Amino acid sequence: IVAAFQPKLMAGKRILITAGPTFEAIDPVRGITNLSSGKMGYAVARAAREAGAEVTLVSGPTALPTPHGVTRIDVQSAQQMMDAVNRAIDGQHIFIAVAAVADWRVANPSTQKVKKTDGEAAAKGPELQFEQNPDILATIAARTTLAGHPYCVGFAAESENLLEYGSAKRERKGIPLLVGNIGHHTFGQDDNTIVLFDEHGHTILPQAPKLTLARQLISEISKRTSKHSL
Ligand code: CTP
Ligand code: CA
Repeated sequence: IVAAFQPKLMAGKRILITAGPTFEAIDPVRGITNLSSGKMGYAVARAAREAGAEVTLVSGPTALPTPHGVTRIDVQSAQQMMDAVNRAIDGQHIFIAVAAVADWRVANPSTQKVKKTDGEAAAKGPELQFEQNPDILATIAARTTLAGHPYCVGFAAESENLLEYGSAKRERKGIPLLVGNIGHHTFGQDDNTIVLFDEHGHTILPQAPKLTLARQLISEISKRTSKHSL
């Protein structure tokens, strides 16, 4: 189906999307991150824009061009992503959290580059302590109004038991729709297979290019939100 011939499903809707990994600094030249190319999130942003929405994309570090007509805000860490989302969330109809957010940040990052040492300490390496990052999706979901604003969509990459974990995660996050995929073999790839979890159960969208799946997802969200009196 050619997108141009589809009705503009999302005309007049404001959609906020997170995408890519986050990067948590260890020192000024090193950090820890999650495996994510950003391709799925960027495809969702492009599909939402094609459907007529006003799209804001909060993105961790990626090598991707900004989709046409999309407003992009670049961040590095989970905390910066949380702050950017908080600044942009007012007036959004839909929030789609595609980012692979690092669950932990380094609690004791060094302001200067950590140097290698000789002797006994060398074998062990530096000691890193971690603390948990804010859960961006759960934070926004907790603010959903009775009218259902914003309608929150989560993503979950699981390495096993997708059907069981996906449905449990949707309920734990308190969101109406969760998109699951079996990571890590889809990371960086152009194709994906996804499963939609909602209050009725699950629906499998078979393997297809990420942009095709993103368009199907936007259409599924549109169906669900038009019932939602947004
Ligand atoms: N998410 C988020 N902020 C976080 C962690 C996750 O917004 N700090 C969002 C992701 O963007 C995704 C969803 O929550 O939409 C699920 O992420 P996932 O990592 O699968 O879930 P977690 O709750 O972190 O559980 P776990 O990693 O332990 O499986
Ligand atoms: Ca996580």
